[in-house]
Amino acid sequence: MIDKKKILVIQKVHEKGMELINNNPNFDVEVTEDVSIDNLKSKISKSDAVSIRIAKLPGEVINEAKNLKIISRHGVGYDNIDLKTAKNKDIKIAITANANAVTVAEHVLSNLFYITKKGTLYDETVRTGKFSDRNKLPKMIELWNKNFLIVGFGRIGKALIKRCLGLEMNVNVYDPYVLEDEIKQNGGKKIDKLDDAVKSADVISLHVPLTDKTKNLFNYDLIKTLKKNCILINASRGGIVNEFDLDRALNENLILGAGIDVFEKEPPESSNPLLSNPKVFLSPHTAAFTEECMTRMGVETIQNIIDFFNENLDRSKIVKL
Ligand SMILES: NC(=O)c1ccc[n+]([C@@H]2O[C@H](COP(=O)([O-])OP(=O)(O)OC[C@H]3O[C@@H](n4cnc5c(N)ncnc54)[C@H](O)[C@@H]3O)[C@@H](O)[C@H]2O)c1
Repeated sequence: MIDKKKILVIQKVHEKGMELINNNPNFDVEVTEDVSIDNLKSKISKSDAVSIRIAKLPGEVINEAKNLKIISRHGVGYDNIDLKTAKNKDIKIAITANANAVTVAEHVLSNLFYITKKGTLYDETVRTGKFSDRNKLPKMIELWNKNFLIVGFGRIGKALIKRCLGLEMNVNVYDPYVLEDEIKQNGGKKIDKLDDAVKSADVISLHVPLTDKTKNLFNYDLIKTLKKNCILINASRGGIVNEFDLDRALNENLILGAGIDVFEKEPPESSNPLLSNPKVFLSPHTAAFTEECMTRMGVETIQNIIDFFNENLDRSKIVKL
């Protein structure tokens, strides 16, 4: 008899991914949409593998696992998983390393265009019969020759720089863990200190993981040193930009605008000041939500589990704990 592996899919993934394991004699698959601690504790206790999206897997849940060998993240960030407990139990964490860099980079540019080209204002002007007001409308902003700062030069940062260079922007990079040569070869200029890097930027986009070092990295003290026309985009993780400080800085006209895809608490509470700030363009943690990317992520998440049990999972996709 085959030793069937039990796969728990927490929040369903794209059907192309599910097709890889549904009706597969090697796997028993269960999908759960209930992300409550009690439900996850009970389900994980019987699982050999878990696929997880943005739901939280705290230590108390992982501790219930008896046979769990791999947690496969649908995405690349893994701050929703208690790493210490996973490491203690020798559970591997895999990411969909190849799936979403280009998609997130495109999302950043869509935020940037939305903010600098005044969203739907011009469209609404025509539709509401105000065509002749065209000279009175606030002017749009050009991107050509502007300074773009990328904070975090990993997969997404590298996909983004190509697109910024295509727009003939000047790209500076702040990432203390990437060598100057690598940044230069990609067409950027390395800046060693974040305080210096932010001062000349017209656009700043964040692509760092959420860690103790990056939490609240963009607080009031730093934001107030930005240029008054600066646009700050965060499609990395909530908490890296302090939401109250950003709201305050926008209200005090210290910067021009912001694009925010991720929140410290998701979904954000109705009291979150960014929800009512018109200078912020928001999205519900959907920077990677193109049809193409969701398909790639769904397939890669599940394929990582299959490859793991076949002992041929690419090691670069396993998080070093
Ligand atoms: N909004 C979304 O849907 C979405 C989708 C994908 C990824 N993300 C987030 O984006 C982050 C980046 O993704 P990636 O694939 O480029 O990751 P990556 O691991 O390839 O790159 C992260 C980069 O950040 C750098 N870094 C780490 N700490 C830093 C610090 N303190 N200061 C400056 N640089 C630092 C690292 O050296 C690395 O080059 C992920 O951690 C994830 O949280 C969000």
